[in-house]
Amino acid sequence: SETVEINGAGHLAIGGVDALKLAKKYGTPLIAYDVAKIKNQVKRFKQAFIDGNVPYRVTYASKAFSALAMYRLISKEGLGCDVVSGGELYAALKGGMPPEKIEFHGNNKLPEELELAVDSKIGCIVVDNFQEISFLDNILKAKKTKISVTLRVAPGVEAETHKYISTGQENSKFGFDVRSGQAEKALKLLLDNPRMNLKGVHCHIGSQIFAAAGFVMAINKMVQLLKAWKEKYDFTAEILNIGGGFGTRYIDSDEPLPADEFVKQIVKAVKEKIAEAKLKFPEIWIEPGRALVGESAVTLYTVGSRKDVEGVCHFVSVDGGMGDNIRPALYQAKYEAVLANKPQALKEQIVTVVGKYCESGDILVRDALLPVTHPNDTLAILSTGAYGYTMASNYNRNPRPAVVFCENGKDKLVIKRETYADMLRCELSL
Ligand code: LLP
Repeated sequence: SETVEINGAGHLAIGGVDALKLAKKYGTPLIAYDVAKIKNQVKRFKQAFIDGNVPYRVTYASKAFSALAMYRLISKEGLGCDVVSGGELYAALKGGMPPEKIEFHGNNKLPEELELAVDSKIGCIVVDNFQEISFLDNILKAKKTKISVTLRVAPGVEAETHKYISTGQENSKFGFDVRSGQAEKALKLLLDNPRMNLKGVHCHIGSQIFAAAGFVMAINKMVQLLKAWKEKYDFTAEILNIGGGFGTRYIDSDEPLPADEFVKQIVKAVKEKIAEAKLKFPEIWIEPGRALVGESAVTLYTVGSRKDVEGVCHFVSVDGGMGDNIRPALYQAKYEAVLANKPQALKEQIVTVVGKYCESGDILVRDALLPVTHPNDTLAILSTGAYGYTMASNYNRNPRPAVVFCENGKDKLVIKRETYADMLRCELSL
């Protein structure tokens, strides 16, 4: 892949740090982030709004990679973040994210999670359903306080992506549906509620989207809605949040629009539609997750055993697998493998890279084109920065990997490798 960094020793490098040195220092599996790549994506997302001269907010969808170091980095870069659970909210606050820049999402926010959000005075709750409105109202009444909210709409736009990560269609579990009148009913409830300050509307059409067309369709629908609501209820949205889902390149043939290009087209569409509808220009919010972190990390593994079934298949096993990256098994996601100790060597075999878990589906890469591999080689899987660590498990009692941030030739451990003892910390021996 053209994005791979190779150092003078002919090894794979991450942020100027030799991959073999990292593997030796921290062990494997190891997730290594190139911090400059994250910062560069932040810049691209922001710059296109600045160039468009429109009010905006970029809110990092922290489910993609939630770590104290990440919240710290992202808040230093001036972004907000979105959280989807009490746990993410707790981590965001501990990571130094200013509460007013936190946005809370979810289709089943628990009463205690809503309470934590209210007590922490977070910036915005994205109201998802009627039950939540009444839970939240009870909490606000009891605490004699108020909070800002946006209203999540399911706009009826289908994103062209895997069905498990498509969320904007009418039968989605997320948000208020428009056609049946739910969204309008929710609007009325919120407008009549003195404890909820309705700032605007939100929609999210799905994930790993490569083109701007779906966003433009969603903007069209949302602005139509805002126009109708202006006429009927004199409601003016201060915020138009169009969610996340901007695609990432996992393999060479993936060609998502670059971040700034997405934003450019979004800004253009909002400008056109808002002018047509003669509405007040809203602040445009987006919630990128994977596009901010996906391509910035690689996972380093150590090659172990091998099995060759001549004429059928060749398996190369590594010391991690579905416990640190469930995406191939869950979504048939494709990745690219590179031999970190000789990334430029002639690629002369096609192998299946498998993990160490007791599942036949524990495949990291099917048909990986690699140089001949040997035990103790360091194998890197590229673009593992999003939904890798955050979806990791302890299946088969394998500890979760360590995570390291690399920048300007320096490495910094940000998440320690779990130990066997860590995995027993919640257990009681009876
Ligand atoms: N905003 C909302 C309301 C979302 O539901 C999501 C993702 C995002 C933003 C961020 O989406 P992104 O920009 O990262 O695509 N585990 C799956 C992805 C699930 C995404 C869920 N919602 C995967 O590994 O592909």
